[in-house]
Amino acid sequence: MVVLGIESSCDETSVALVKKGNQVLSNVVASQIKDHREYGGVVPELASRKHLENIEPVFQLGLKQAKLKPQDIDLIAVTQGPGLTGSLLIGVSFARALAYNLKKKLVGVHHIESHLYSPFLENSKLKFPFISLVVSGGHTALFHVKGIGKYRQLGHTVDDAVGEAYDKVAKMLELGYPGGPIVDRLAKEGDPKAISFPRAMLHSKNLNFSFSGLKTAVLYHIRKYPSLKKVPVADVCASFQEAVMDVLVAKIKKATQQSKVETITMAGGVACNSRLRVRLNELADQQGWQFFYPSPIMCTDNAAMIAGLGYHKRGLAKSPQSTSLKLEARPTWAIA
Ligand code: KG4
Ligand code: ZN
Repeated sequence: MVVLGIESSCDETSVALVKKGNQVLSNVVASQIKDHREYGGVVPELASRKHLENIEPVFQLGLKQAKLKPQDIDLIAVTQGPGLTGSLLIGVSFARALAYNLKKKLVGVHHIESHLYSPFLENSKLKFPFISLVVSGGHTALFHVKGIGKYRQLGHTVDDAVGEAYDKVAKMLELGYPGGPIVDRLAKEGDPKAISFPRAMLHSKNLNFSFSGLKTAVLYHIRKYPSLKKVPVADVCASFQEAVMDVLVAKIKKATQQSKVETITMAGGVACNSRLRVRLNELADQQGWQFFYPSPIMCTDNAAMIAGLGYHKRGLAKSPQSTSLKLEARPTWAIA
């Protein structure tokens, strides 16, 4: 059973071919980072135009790398939402046309649910149930995952997503875009205790997060210096990052203890963060829990996770001649 996955919800155009839900035959990701860099963030109109340019060549490359022909595809899975409307439409329209032409079934999958699935692509030992931290430029949430399609959101950010906070802090320090990887790298050279930034909602009773106050605290701290050149950038990055980590680690610890499970996972672009990996490994060691996380390419948006989840959702697939042509993008699709 070979599933073709298509992802275009934000600024990555991706096509993957995955066998039996976890054997990745190819996973081509065309990133638009350089196209959006000069604007300091994703420009939706530009993103959809780039998806339109990229989707066909990325599809052809995916087939070539997997050494497959279009007819070898058994099922097509596409990100239906949530995401940018114009971007989702490109992937969904391409998937519908392909399903119709190749006479293959089509299934729409939820983008965040596919992030929850992503650690399975590289870890055959991962078993349900587990607590998952999904952290990206657009999402920050904790889930109790009991099975495919059986999950409950335990908490979420009430304002900025973690990746967004990283990107904004990098912008204040004029470090470049996207800011996450740059702040992560500079933090290694700084002192995490140099500046005492707030740990919002650290002791709140719920499992929600808030990062906008931290972002503002960084801004006020930077303003204390006569110019940006005088700011101890590495110390600011390290102290900001440690404030983020303290909250993320405390909340995942609380969620896991409350849910009485012994496995944790993480996913999304911020799951590439080197300090987050160290801190969650330490937590898992202390508590005797198992910790699984995807490699960087599987953390950021990619179609392998779409195809992988699509395999498990094959029962919901529609035949092309009947209803698959009605499959529509769902930009605001809420997760359970
Ligand atoms: O999942 P993703 O590729 O796209 C979505 O937002 O959906 O995540 C991108 C986000 C950006 O905000 C980026 O700055 C952040 O992930 N990011 C990181 C790191 N690598 C990427 N944040 C912190 N540390 C990193 N190493
Ligand atoms: Zn994502």
